[in-house]
Amino acid sequence: MTLEPERKDLMPGLQLIGAEWREASDARRLDVSDPASDGVFASVPDGTAVDARAATDAAHAAFPAWRAVPAKQRAQILKRWNDLVMAHQEDLGRLISREQGKPLAEGRGEVAYAASYIEWFAEEATRANGEIIPAPVTGRRMLALREPVGVVAAITPWNFPAAMIARKIAPALAAGCTVVCKPAEDTPLTSLALVKLAQEAGVPPGVLNIVTASRERTPEVVDAWLDDPRVRKITFTGSTPVGKHLARRSADTLKKLSLELGGNAPFIVFDDADIDAAVEGLMAAKFRNGGQTCVCPNRVFVQSRVHDAFVDKLAARVGALRVGPASDEGSQIGPMINARAVDKIERHVRDAVSRGARVVAGGKRLRDARCDGPNYYAPTVLVNADSTMECSCEETFGPVVPVTRFESEAEVIAAANETPFGLAAYFYSTDVKRIWRVADALESGIVGINEGALAAEAAPFGGVKESGYGREGSVHGLEDYMHIKYVCQGGLA
Ligand code: SIN
Repeated sequence: MTLEPERKDLMPGLQLIGAEWREASDARRLDVSDPASDGVFASVPDGTAVDARAATDAAHAAFPAWRAVPAKQRAQILKRWNDLVMAHQEDLGRLISREQGKPLAEGRGEVAYAASYIEWFAEEATRANGEIIPAPVTGRRMLALREPVGVVAAITPWNFPAAMIARKIAPALAAGCTVVCKPAEDTPLTSLALVKLAQEAGVPPGVLNIVTASRERTPEVVDAWLDDPRVRKITFTGSTPVGKHLARRSADTLKKLSLELGGNAPFIVFDDADIDAAVEGLMAAKFRNGGQTCVCPNRVFVQSRVHDAFVDKLAARVGALRVGPASDEGSQIGPMINARAVDKIERHVRDAVSRGARVVAGGKRLRDARCDGPNYYAPTVLVNADSTMECSCEETFGPVVPVTRFESEAEVIAAANETPFGLAAYFYSTDVKRIWRVADALESGIVGINEGALAAEAAPFGGVKESGYGREGSVHGLEDYMHIKYVCQGGLA
């Protein structure tokens, strides 16, 4: 099955700055490789600080006109963008799968997920209402107006190359902001294709700019935006250390920030849970994108009475997962994004085993006729996991399920919260009193109760503690791109 897009011009191989698709200022290129083989199959410009500043110039110049476009017209442009994205679902799905490695069914699914944010924010654009405030004295009118913050720098990750860009750019454009964007160095192609479709939908020149850059050059591109007072907001999805760096570095110009950072999600199965439903929920939450999501369960806690039955069912389901390249329709788990990712997974499993964990499924790299490349890892279940293990303290970001046995509700809540992170948490129980007790006690921005698939454009996505701040999606997703202006008119009595 081919992963080549039919529309070849969806791979422009250039970055968009203002109205012009162009090379990097020094013409250097960045190779894009296929995680299934590590073979290079495309290249994009390796952007520089000069390109980043040119993108800011374009976004800054375009801002006054774009913010003045009536919200309804901005919404219409976004709706056209949504329609074009869905019309190219197959091509975009292929691009995602080729450069990111997820199976094609997931690639196509991600396109629909990305489009759902564009459609949602097209609708929200027309509802950015302000408030009329009852004045405390006569002769005054007092209003709170919502205004776009200005130029937004969007820095996006590789694990959802379409959805993460859509859920940052769509609300920014809906709010009347202009955008400079840098996609992850591993997955620049999908974002270039999305930007091309946005241009076709009628997003005016300068309103949306994209600079592609290698890992080596990313700091100079991002620093050019951090240091520039014209950039009024940074929106970032990625690791907590990088998020902290962005927060520190943007302090001098006091930019608004949305930071969607690392997670360490607990998944708790109480002994009153529907065990089959819990196994299915864990499969959905854990193995989406091969475990390469910030919200996927990283630590699984199972109450003593149901522990063994749960582990048996889970190991059978995990052992049956079909691993292979995205180009094979039968693959359920693709390759990991790159060698660094597989090395980390391997390190976590080795560390867990050395501290007393036992492998009941997987536990090794895969390389055979189907998995013919260096980046495959077998879906893995570990038992006897504990809080000292690296896999319990850091995000593994791979298809590994470490299971810990627990006795009491109080004990498991303490263990679940014993992490600096707080993005997602899941639990399974049929006891209605326990359900609300536990939902209240979990320190996390997102809680799944008897549900493993939580993502939705209408829901606020984001974390607490060191998982960051700001919310994406939902009505709150637009607020993050706006500020409030208080307007008071006196002398009316
Ligand atoms: C992420 O992993 O950062 C996003 C996952 C999602 O949107 O569900």
